[in-house]
Amino acid sequence: MTIAVRTARQAGAIATPAIATALRDFSLNGRKTLVEKRGGIDFYFNEFWTARQRQANRLHEISYRACFKPQLPAFFIERLTGLGDCVYDPFMGRGTTPLQAALMGRVAIGNDVNPLSAMLTRPRLNPPPLESVADRLRAIDWTFRGEVREDLLTFFHRRTLEKIEALRAHLKRREGEGAFDAIDDWIRMVALNRLTGHSPGFFSVYTLPPNQAASIAAQKRINFKRGQKPPERDVAAILLKKSAALLGGAPAAVARRHLLFSASAEATPQIAPASVDLVVASPPFLDVVPYAADNWLRCWFAGLDPAAIPIAMHRDPEDWAAFIRRVLIELARVVRPGGHIAFEVGEVRGGAIELESLVLGAAQGLPLAPLGVAVNVQDFTKTANCWGVANNAKGTNTNRIVLMRRE
Ligand SMILES: C[S@@+](CC[C@H](N)C(=O)[O-])C[C@H]1O[C@@H](n2cnc3c(N)ncnc32)[C@H](O)[C@@H]1O
Repeated sequence: MTIAVRTARQAGAIATPAIATALRDFSLNGRKTLVEKRGGIDFYFNEFWTARQRQANRLHEISYRACFKPQLPAFFIERLTGLGDCVYDPFMGRGTTPLQAALMGRVAIGNDVNPLSAMLTRPRLNPPPLESVADRLRAIDWTFRGEVREDLLTFFHRRTLEKIEALRAHLKRREGEGAFDAIDDWIRMVALNRLTGHSPGFFSVYTLPPNQAASIAAQKRINFKRGQKPPERDVAAILLKKSAALLGGAPAAVARRHLLFSASAEATPQIAPASVDLVVASPPFLDVVPYAADNWLRCWFAGLDPAAIPIAMHRDPEDWAAFIRRVLIELARVVRPGGHIAFEVGEVRGGAIELESLVLGAAQGLPLAPLGVAVNVQDFTKTANCWGVANNAKGTNTNRIVLMRRE
């Protein structure tokens, strides 16, 4: 196969990239890929992955706004890399790509401008045994003698908030003493995910889903409307239960080799030139998701100031495309020749702006050859029957992945 491709190249012919063939020939339950050329680029439509089709590891199950399903990076990691290859996400969010890469025996590199992301990701690359978590939870001094933040009583019962503060104090003390270890790291990650939500599995009273923290004013309105007051929660029991759920399917060691850091994706000197085999990433879509507002309570718990984190927010599509071009220039530096980039964008402004076209435009003139756009159409049959899948650019639930190869 490799020899055949080389021969074709030597003869000056353009070989069809293996990933394009894989997308074209993909068939799930007899549903064949539809291919349509748009602006000279092949768009491949199919239900390439579904949540049902292949169960992801439970370690992934923490919520984060605009995260993608683990099946997305798994699809490209499987087809574009081998064991021990290096997979990178410059916008890792909750760390879906680095975690999936590590679970598949690849070297994981992850970055996000928000340091919260490394806090969410690192512990799951190095999961501790459940008994060690249980022992540590028993050893923590859960009494808090200081003043609690009164405004947070909108979310938490006073005794629950005292326990949350006791945990923050424990983690801070451990850091100060240089004793902060993988178990503290794990407990902080789980606590960040249990702060607020809409069931008794969270520390808070009923509120928005866990990946979106309401403002204090909005929570006051929710409490008033529902006639509710924050009930007392057993913080340690909640942490242990969620730890057990996450660790349920975890292998003993996930990633022996990984690199996580916090920087803007446009400048990442932490990564050596031509050292990455595959990038799987999803940037912020214009200014659609207010990451700072969504994460304000998690940042408070983690001791971060969300206002000081330069999260990319671009209302103007031209500014966004310029940002993406700067990121692609950096990715062209770190990806090895022959390596790949799978850049996922979603639906914005009701389909009025096609972010995939902006990404393709931003890559022009860079040593990144466009290989096509994979459009993962959920509920393919319904979409294909009702609207014609090839015309479904608007209004349907799709992921569009711009595929590029470093020349
Ligand atoms: C769409 S989310 C990525 C979600 C991720 N794929 C996951 O599964 O969790 C985009 C991420 O980009 C991050 N971000 C925003 N501006 C950035 C920048 N300039 N450099 C790096 N990361 C940035 C945000 O903090 C957010 O976590």
